[in-house]
Amino acid sequence: MIDALNTRFSREDKLTFTQHPSGLVLGNVDTSRCAASFFLHGSHLASFRPKSQSRDLIFMSSEAVFAGGKPIRGGVPICFPWFGAHPTNSDAPAHGLVRTVAWEMLDTSLTGDVVDVQLGLIIDELELRYEMRFGDELKLAFSARNLGNIAKSCELALHTYFNLADATRAVVTGLERCNYRDQLTKVEHPPSGEPIQFVAETDRVYFGHTDEIKIVDSAAGRTIVLRPLNSSSSVVWNPWIDKSKRLTDFGDDEYQRMCCIETARVTPNQLLIEPGHTETVAVTIGV
Ligand code: BG6
Repeated sequence: MIDALNTRFSREDKLTFTQHPSGLVLGNVDTSRCAASFFLHGSHLASFRPKSQSRDLIFMSSEAVFAGGKPIRGGVPICFPWFGAHPTNSDAPAHGLVRTVAWEMLDTSLTGDVVDVQLGLIIDELELRYEMRFGDELKLAFSARNLGNIAKSCELALHTYFNLADATRAVVTGLERCNYRDQLTKVEHPPSGEPIQFVAETDRVYFGHTDEIKIVDSAAGRTIVLRPLNSSSSVVWNPWIDKSKRLTDFGDDEYQRMCCIETARVTPNQLLIEPGHTETVAVTIGV
């Protein structure tokens, strides 16, 4: 399988495929611009480091489990076609089905020193495409085309785990003017007018489109910039102390080194995909 992938999809020595120790297939990008990796499992971005940076932009838990049928703790899991618990079926897994199955490699290209990969998956009469573009910045673009005859209502989150030197000193700006729902209390809040700081367990869905979100990681002396496209919700998550201990695939103190800012479409801002139509949600991430 690895040989076949390399024959068809590798690009010089800048995009190659290897087998991860877990047995999952890993795509590896190494160019003058960045180093990155992704699993076909879940079409899951695992790491991205612009060559200007000594630290990865993306966090991966040291206790992550890499196995078919299981989500990976860190990187960018794709949550689709529902976010959080399934609305009616309590037996269904959290955050949908597509983060735990292998996607198909569809196409790759090398333009200048920018690597572009396309993966695909068909579920429930929806043709999914995921593009990852690896340059000085990372671009992630998810699209879903409705192959059926009835409109589909779907939630999505590009559940991005950011790698921070110190989350307790980090500040997130860009969401000050958005209403938000606190997922811990289910209480809806008006815009806070304030940047976000992590001082306790934080689990919020912010509503409304935002052109730019910044994560100021002062301990690392850098600011990570996200530019979402066609997203009308953003999820902000840090499990803090007690939840970190409850998560079996996450280190007890790893909450100090990450936060999730998820480019999303969460109810009531979910995607409505008409028959024959395609909806795309994307984000560009840089420093
Ligand atoms: C976030 C949710 O997006 O994902 C949280 O808002 C949830 O409520 C977190 O705990 C992690 O989810 P999971 O299923 O990957 O453990």
